[in-house]
Amino acid sequence: MSGKARLAVLLSGSGTTLQNILDRIGNGTLPAEVAVVVSSRKDAYGLIRAEKAGAPAHVVSSREYADWDDHSRAVTEVLDRYGPDLVVMAGYMCLYRFPARYEHRIMNIHPALIPAFCGKGLYGHLAHKAVIDYGVRVTGCTVHFVDNEYDHGPIILQRTVAVRAGDTADTLAERVQAEERIAYPEAIRLFAEDRLIVEGGTCKVLPGDWTPTSACGLE
Ligand code: GAR
Repeated sequence: MSGKARLAVLLSGSGTTLQNILDRIGNGTLPAEVAVVVSSRKDAYGLIRAEKAGAPAHVVSSREYADWDDHSRAVTEVLDRYGPDLVVMAGYMCLYRFPARYEHRIMNIHPALIPAFCGKGLYGHLAHKAVIDYGVRVTGCTVHFVDNEYDHGPIILQRTVAVRAGDTADTLAERVQAEERIAYPEAIRLFAEDRLIVEGGTCKVLPGDWTPTSACGLE
């Protein structure tokens, strides 16, 4: 892809991830534009952030569909209208069953080191609580291409965070989210520069003018 990546952002909540993307675009460090925002909840604060940024926003409420297949079809209908290069899940709490044409064109960020502490029911603060309850010493965040399972698919970048004695889900979330704000723009930039290659179920990062600071499969 040459130039800016056209992004579609899927969200369900406060939209801090969307805001980070908008801020990076605004300060010229992310070669992208937010073509559309789709929320699965009509009360998501992310919709207000989209409106403030002048990005078209749509609600496709998960409550109004019989199952994920029906809901996903409605989401795809909206996405197709905007022709995104990349779909970015940003705190999106639904399963998206996407058509084949979107394969390896949808990213998600998860607040733990996949394949640990992820999957159905382990999102947001629940993932951080599970990390603390288990007693692991290191956690972090993972950006990955999405397949048809929760928090699953080829890993693009990961960043690590030490778990401190006395951490709560809140204190840990704060430090992991600081790393997310670095990892997601880096992954999107790599996509925009055509540097992500998926082969045999894993993702390779091709060398380029800059090197991601996040751990990645750079050769
Ligand atoms: C982020 O911490 C992200 O990792 C998490 O939601 C938060 C973003 O919410 N996503 C997941 O847990 C997905 N499995 P926000 O952008 O609405 O503030």
